Amino acid sequence: MKIIVTGGAGFIGGNFVHYMVEKYPEDMIINLDALTYAGNLETLKPVENKPNYKFVKGDIADRDFIFRLFASEKPDVVVNFAAESHVDRSIECPDVFVRTNVLGTTTLLDACREYGIKRYHQVSTDEVYGDLPLDRPDLFFTEETPLHTSSPYSSSKASADLFVMAYHRTFKVPVSISRCSNNYGPYQFPEKLIPLMISRALSDGELPVYGNGANVRDWLHVYDHCQAIDLIIRKGADGCVYNIGGHNERTNLEVVKTILHTLDKPESLIKYVKDRPGHDMRYAIDPKKLETELGWEPVYNFETGIVQTIQWYLENREWWEHIVSGEYSQYFEKMYGDRL
Ligand code: NAD
Ligand code: TYD
Repeated sequence: MKIIVTGGAGFIGGNFVHYMVEKYPEDMIINLDALTYAGNLETLKPVENKPNYKFVKGDIADRDFIFRLFASEKPDVVVNFAAESHVDRSIECPDVFVRTNVLGTTTLLDACREYGIKRYHQVSTDEVYGDLPLDRPDLFFTEETPLHTSSPYSSSKASADLFVMAYHRTFKVPVSISRCSNNYGPYQFPEKLIPLMISRALSDGELPVYGNGANVRDWLHVYDHCQAIDLIIRKGADGCVYNIGGHNERTNLEVVKTILHTLDKPESLIKYVKDRPGHDMRYAIDPKKLETELGWEPVYNFETGIVQTIQWYLENREWWEHIVSGEYSQYFEKMYGDRL
């Protein structure tokens, strides 16, 4: 099989490329990425010389480029990870989220229509369901939960999902969608909660917790997300949505304290800062469909996954120190300068 993985220089796409290149030496993995601020070819070092791997630089919203690529490569499967992925950036500047997340997705779908495909897989998020109240721990997102978005990011991802389903119904493009909870693990860009807090704690900087830290996220190790997507593209039903999550709900404060305790750093580093506008309260996934229909089972729980992840950041300082000391430092100053 020839598989185009878009966004393979980012966090989850990069982990997925590693996973697929190692697991399926007979398949060809083409990593298509525009190398925005979030794309990093350092992440691909372990696979860059493998015979079943190729990198192509390009923009998923560039129609001419995408059509030329499909005409020459004739992929069997497309897995679309490429996106603008950070909620805080979407609040600062929504338009690039519309361009990449919506127009990029429809451009890929048009290429799939034109050149044919066995499966187009859209990597979506649980954020398309909006949020759940903190006082109803019995409620979970199922695949039938209505889309009800809060941020420009989640709205752009929900729009993309609607287009994917429309192309399935109207043009019979074979598709699947996965909606995963918050990921963590190796190679995550340090703007996101867990790597941000690990890198700040390691340099004894203040740890900026939004609001009172009571918001809940359902954390899944990126390896388990990759395994789920692999299952869905091979065995998942055409036209179906699958939720991915491992029942690892934690408040942000619990996550931050776990990181501090593991690194033997004091809780006095925590700094409560102005809340994110429109901040979703709780995400929680019901993964029953994926477990019962496809037999998916996560390898990690939060306790084992966070220890593995902290160990990875300790052993791979060069990877994230490059980022933290570069252009990203200006972003940090802009977003947090008057909060800390
Ligand atoms: P990321 O920001 O780390 O990586 C995104 C990648 O896409 C980068 O390599 C970037 O260069 C590339 N990219 C951006 N615009 C592009 C364009 N126009 N053309 C080609 N490439 C482009 O994101 P991530 O955290 O790895 O998320 C990957 C996908 O998973 C996203 O679609 C996101 O919505 C979804 N998702 C993420 C999470 C999470 O917790 N991070 C959870 C559920 C779903
Ligand atoms: P994030 O990693 O940005 O993921 P998402 O917003 O997509 O869930 O944030 C996870 C949670 O952590 C979210 O409730 C916001 C909170 N948060 C902080 O408290 N401080 C921070 O500096 C960041 C980046 C996030």
